[in-house]
Amino acid sequence: MLNEKIIELLNDQVNKEFYSAYLYLDMANYYIDNDLDGFGNWFNIQAQEERDHAMLFIKYLQNNGAKVELKAIDKPNEEFNKFADPLEVSYDHEQYVTSLINNIYDVAYTVKDFRTMQFLDWFIKEQGEEEANASGLVKKYKLFGEDPKSLYLLNQELASRTYSAPTLVLD
Ligand code: FEO
Repeated sequence: MLNEKIIELLNDQVNKEFYSAYLYLDMANYYIDNDLDGFGNWFNIQAQEERDHAMLFIKYLQNNGAKVELKAIDKPNEEFNKFADPLEVSYDHEQYVTSLINNIYDVAYTVKDFRTMQFLDWFIKEQGEEEANASGLVKKYKLFGEDPKSLYLLNQELASRTYSAPTLVLD
């Protein structure tokens, strides 16, 4: 049986991952409303990945006989005034998510919950990739986003992103 604090933190993380999906969906909608469908595609796929993350936390709780508690998902209320805004918010958000995962890992370490530490290893690596992707987009936009032709090409590049299921599979 998992430690009570770990169960609470994992349930909180389910909520945070679904919130992340909501946040990215909101960003996708903002870009689609502004005719940047490629950016919209990138964030729609990002939202799908966040739903996958939430489902992995749910499955892990269930596999360990812990009760899943679904909490209300906050409304995303970021204001986007220019095309660069969602990119900056997304990078900040991924750094925040990394801090949440690190905190669960820290508590698991303290209570010697090696199973949860091993489960979280995948997310530690994933967060490294998520941060690198988000930061990469911020940099690309700074370089190319202000020029309409370059923005057009960047939008096309982001339109080519395709979804792939997470490499972590829980039976
Ligand atoms: Fe689920 Fe983008 O971290």
